[in-house]
Amino acid sequence: MRLDVVTIFADYLAPLQLSLIGKAQQQGLLDVRVHDLREHTHDRHRTVDDTPYGGGAGLLMKPEPWGEALDALLADPPAGAREEGPVLVVPSPVGEVFSQRAAVELAAEPWLVFACGRYEGIDARVVEHYRTRIRVREVSLGDYVLNGGEVAVLAITEAVVRLVPGVIGNAASLTEESHAPEHDGLLEHPAYTKPASWRGLDVPAVLAGGNHGAVERWRRDEALRRTASRRPDVLRRLDPARCDRHDLAV
Ligand code: ADE
Repeated sequence: MRLDVVTIFADYLAPLQLSLIGKAQQQGLLDVRVHDLREHTHDRHRTVDDTPYGGGAGLLMKPEPWGEALDALLADPPAGAREEGPVLVVPSPVGEVFSQRAAVELAAEPWLVFACGRYEGIDARVVEHYRTRIRVREVSLGDYVLNGGEVAVLAITEAVVRLVPGVIGNAASLTEESHAPEHDGLLEHPAYTKPASWRGLDVPAVLAGGNHGAVERWRRDEALRRTASRRPDVLRRLDPARCDRHDLAV
């Protein structure tokens, strides 16, 4: 998978060299390239921003450097890129809320390009223009405002890259976690390790009882209970066809 990130703060993306994402690059599973938007300015001050038409607070990113930077990337596709080009991911508080489902979709793509906005965002014509040429997804991390897209790119990249085959050694761990489609998107059940008793708190007896069926039932029940109390919105999306009578009783 190839990831291109365009930003005015390349240093912000340094953590992409660490941990799982760094290792995936060393293994050749991933090729991350960070590009400085200011390389595509042509004035002495390397200007990337200007005041908004119609007035208002703050500055917007000008379209021309973005057009140049993105055109340069599109003109040089990596080997294995799809005919329709990359998905352009634009982190923005007005985007679709990022989800595990979106992470799964993006993990199936061979090429992602991230455009990190700063200030009050990017001139709206940039997204409008690239929508006519490639697939564009404006993605929000949640209902709050960040100073720019870089932190969102770190979060999205981490969620996506761990789903790329080979990146996580034990693929089963991907299906046994919160929001996994295999568990109907439910929150994960509570989990315990040794010792069996700690500060007067005991691990539920069923987990040490050796009855695999009973363990699975307990985990499903706890996942349903947790989801009902913490994320009723997630529970409401649960497909009744995926539930058994025991589920419905919980
Ligand atoms: N940029 C600014 N706020 C953001 C958010 N909530 N999600 C993604 N990118 C952003």
